[in-house]
Amino acid sequence: KKRVVSGVQPTGSIHLGNYLGAIKNWIELQNQYDTLFFIVDLHAITLLYDAQQLSKATKETAAIYLACGVDVSKASVFVQSHVPAHVELMWLLSSATPIGWLNKMIQFKEKSRKAGDENVGVALLTYPVLMASDILLYQSDFVPVGDDQKQHLELTRELAERVNYLYGGRKWKKLGGRGGAIFKVPEPLIPPAGARVMSLTDGLSKMSKSAPSDQSRINLLDPKDVIANKIKRCKTDSFSGLEFDNPERPECNNLLSVYQLVSGKTKQEVAEECKDMNWGAFKPVLTDALIDHLHPIQVRYEEIMSDANYLDTVLAEGARRAAEIADSTLQNVYQAMGFLRQR
Ligand code: TYM
Repeated sequence: KKRVVSGVQPTGSIHLGNYLGAIKNWIELQNQYDTLFFIVDLHAITLLYDAQQLSKATKETAAIYLACGVDVSKASVFVQSHVPAHVELMWLLSSATPIGWLNKMIQFKEKSRKAGDENVGVALLTYPVLMASDILLYQSDFVPVGDDQKQHLELTRELAERVNYLYGGRKWKKLGGRGGAIFKVPEPLIPPAGARVMSLTDGLSKMSKSAPSDQSRINLLDPKDVIANKIKRCKTDSFSGLEFDNPERPECNNLLSVYQLVSGKTKQEVAEECKDMNWGAFKPVLTDALIDHLHPIQVRYEEIMSDANYLDTVLAEGARRAAEIADSTLQNVYQAMGFLRQR
């Protein structure tokens, strides 16, 4: 079976972008592939953060995975820091990562510019190496993510090839340079719609956990009245009718795409249904579709969170399964890189 891995950071609240760009797509993949979904707590400390919130946010993120439909009889769900191999492999990979590759990461440039020099930890720079470890440890074939992770995935692929070239040696050549002597070279899975859900207050910037205004995003756990209010106040335009793919109407394209994904309709159906609508008619339709889609997730979330031990058990089992795979890759890498191993 081919393998799929992905993860979300336990920072802020999980929003519609995280769901439509990533989590929702995991649900179909778990039926077909060997899947591992992790909560990347080690990634959540690269900018100044609240230590008192981290463990709570980690559990909540795990509960959201399950509430969205991740099925633990099919997928392994675990916390990144519970599998120490992630950090160990990161150190080994760091030695093979040219610093120039990291310097040109768009997310690093953007986040470090915003945070200011004093607040930029080394971890913000080396973050993509940890992400590469998350993926390469499991010899993953596919990584379902939103558009903003494309560049990190590209770096992961280049790093896998570089390590295979540097340390794969004869074994690598014997395989004809295909597949992975040490690492499999993974491919991103970026959905045709939903890969870049935009802010409700500005159709040109993406929906994000860190945007200061909560009005700019729909959080998966927003109550009905909050969702209704955010849609009522979201940015629109003064064209007549509604349409996809008009570059002058980024908000319109975004809201129609959201409607398409939460209603389960096709793009053509939505285009047809909405072409003569004005915003006043469309907004209640969108609000209802959002609430209908998110409400069952919220009910399941409350159920999962109300059982104090259930999540702990799930996460322990997930970490155990993950560690088996991860440790075997890690031992291979140590060996290939020439380390003296203990008997
Ligand atoms: P994170 O936590 O920022 O986001 C989690 C997932 O949500 C996607 N996403 C979006 N998709 C569509 N529209 C948006 N507005 C939007 N905002 C976020 C992201 O693309 C991502 O798929 N580095 C990663 C987490 C990570 C990871 C990994 C992912 C760490 N190791 C290994 C896959 C494999 C991150 O910070 O995602």
